[in-house]
Amino acid sequence: MPPLRFLALLAGLLASSRAGSTPLVGIVGGRKARPLEFPFLASLQSQGRHFCGGALIHTSFVLTAASCFRNLNPGVATVVLGAYDLRRREPSRQTFSIRSISENRYDPQENLNDLLLLQLEREANLTSNVALLPLPPQNAVVVAGTGCQVAGWGNRRNGGRLSRFPRVVNVTVTPEDQCRPNNLCTGVLTRRGGICHGDGGTPLVCNGLGHGVASFSPNPCGKGPDFFTRVALFREWIDSVLNGPAQGLA
Ligand SMILES: *[C@@H]1O[C@H](CO)[C@@H](O)[C@H](O)[C@H]1NC(C)=O
Ligand SMILES: *[C@@H]1O[C@H](CO)[C@@H](O)[C@H](O)[C@H]1NC(C)=O
Repeated sequence: MPPLRFLALLAGLLASSRAGSTPLVGIVGGRKARPLEFPFLASLQSQGRHFCGGALIHTSFVLTAASCFRNLNPGVATVVLGAYDLRRREPSRQTFSIRSISENRYDPQENLNDLLLLQLEREANLTSNVALLPLPPQNAVVVAGTGCQVAGWGNRRNGGRLSRFPRVVNVTVTPEDQCRPNNLCTGVLTRRGGICHGDGGTPLVCNGLGHGVASFSPNPCGKGPDFFTRVALFREWIDSVLNGPAQGLA
């Protein structure tokens, strides 16, 4: 039985999440990631099936997108860390149920504030396969033209299947007039590339910091721009949740 606090949060979340597009899950136009290349990557799974990505940012917390739980009860989801090959039961894996969730004014109509903190039922052990992704300071800016990377197990093309191994693509931050103030947007110059179904919630990494959370893409996969939640707008809120007095017990 999930704790009551959890159910109350969930009722609010589900009540506010009827409209909008389905979460994204996949990488187009990239290459296969190497083992241990992205040890902070989390695979969110339901009944053993990957449905979204996430990033480990604290031994007890994973950052993902609120849109990942539009149609899914977090009580039935598991967080898998240390994964690489989704078809194998790898000994490197650490699997968790979710103790509680925290969101900050997620607006599913406008796809705004699309991020969610998942508190794990217990602490993760940091290993060569499981590591933390550092986040930018509050209000840090990523200028247009910056090169970033996004990795995940999402589809390799529109209408395709999940990828067995994580894939990574280099992307470029677009000018502000192709984006919105609360998002960071990226594209791939000269060819198709970007996030796809199954990549929702996965982090956008710029200069080693988790600056974005994959939120949505208005066009078919790989056509860009891709919209990420701008993590730097939420750094103080994230810290307050990580250090919050309520986090010891649910
Ligand atoms: C972390 O390591 C300890 C000691 O080896 C083990 O008991 C525990 O189950 C591990 N935790 C996870 C999440 O795998
Ligand atoms: C992708 O970016 C990484 C790090 O910024 C760089 O080392 C690598 O050469 C780039 N790969 C391609 C194919 O552009």
